[in-house]
Amino acid sequence: MTDSHTTADSKIDHAASLKYWNSVPATTGSMLGEFPSVSRIDLQGSKSFLAKVRRLLPGVQSGGKFHQAVDCGAGVGRVTEGFLSHVCEVVDAVEPVAKFTQVMKDSQLKRDGVIGTIYTRGLEDWTPEKKYDLIWVQWCVGHLTDSQLIDYTVRCRKALTENGLMVVKENLSTHFSGQDMYDSEDSSVTRTDAKFRQVFEAAGMEIVKSELQKGFPQSFNLLPVQFYALRPKTTN
Ligand SMILES: C[S@@+](CC[C@H](N)C(=O)[O-])C[C@H]1O[C@@H](n2cnc3c(N)ncnc32)[C@H](O)[C@@H]1O
Repeated sequence: MTDSHTTADSKIDHAASLKYWNSVPATTGSMLGEFPSVSRIDLQGSKSFLAKVRRLLPGVQSGGKFHQAVDCGAGVGRVTEGFLSHVCEVVDAVEPVAKFTQVMKDSQLKRDGVIGTIYTRGLEDWTPEKKYDLIWVQWCVGHLTDSQLIDYTVRCRKALTENGLMVVKENLSTHFSGQDMYDSEDSSVTRTDAKFRQVFEAAGMEIVKSELQKGFPQSFNLLPVQFYALRPKTTN
């Protein structure tokens, strides 16, 4: 909850976020808080969203795998293991918590060369090389301030290959008066759909498709989860 003088993102404290995530076990279940069983539904939803986007955009490789992807805010590699590694040849990872990146470093996917470079750092400190066909960022941009998120999205825009695609998958705010919501437990914000659209516009990205994740049981009482598929805006 914000008062009229402070924005939700001004309360973000990276040290507090890292303290929270370092206190959580380095397991797939811990990435999703109280509801580890949402993982299967989440991963299936991501797979079908990406397939829809590929059909929509002729330039995006429609049949084979993406060559080079990156999983941003990867945690222990849940999304890489359960989804990205099935649709991409090589998946890099960015994640600031060393005990989480260690799980990826020790994994069979790393030994097999499917997990490529692992960057143990926050997205605010990561400058990607221009080589990515797919940048996937899920359930972590709430740890960046609005201006950090714009700057990060600009860097991602510049790091995409010619037909490259960025997908942001995040919770949406349900605040009664349409504000971003601050959560002191992990020092993060949950943004409104309007805020995400402002951020992407400011970063020079076009939304080619967006939709809500479906299929989470109502009884879990989860926040809405939205996909945004982004490409660099074309200038006329
Ligand atoms: C809810 S978990 C999601 C992990 C993974 N994306 C998934 O869906 O399984 C949030 C992740 O964001 C990471 N995180 C915290 N601060 C971050 C930052 N500044 N930049 C990138 N990731 C951050 C946490 O360490 C944690 O691994």
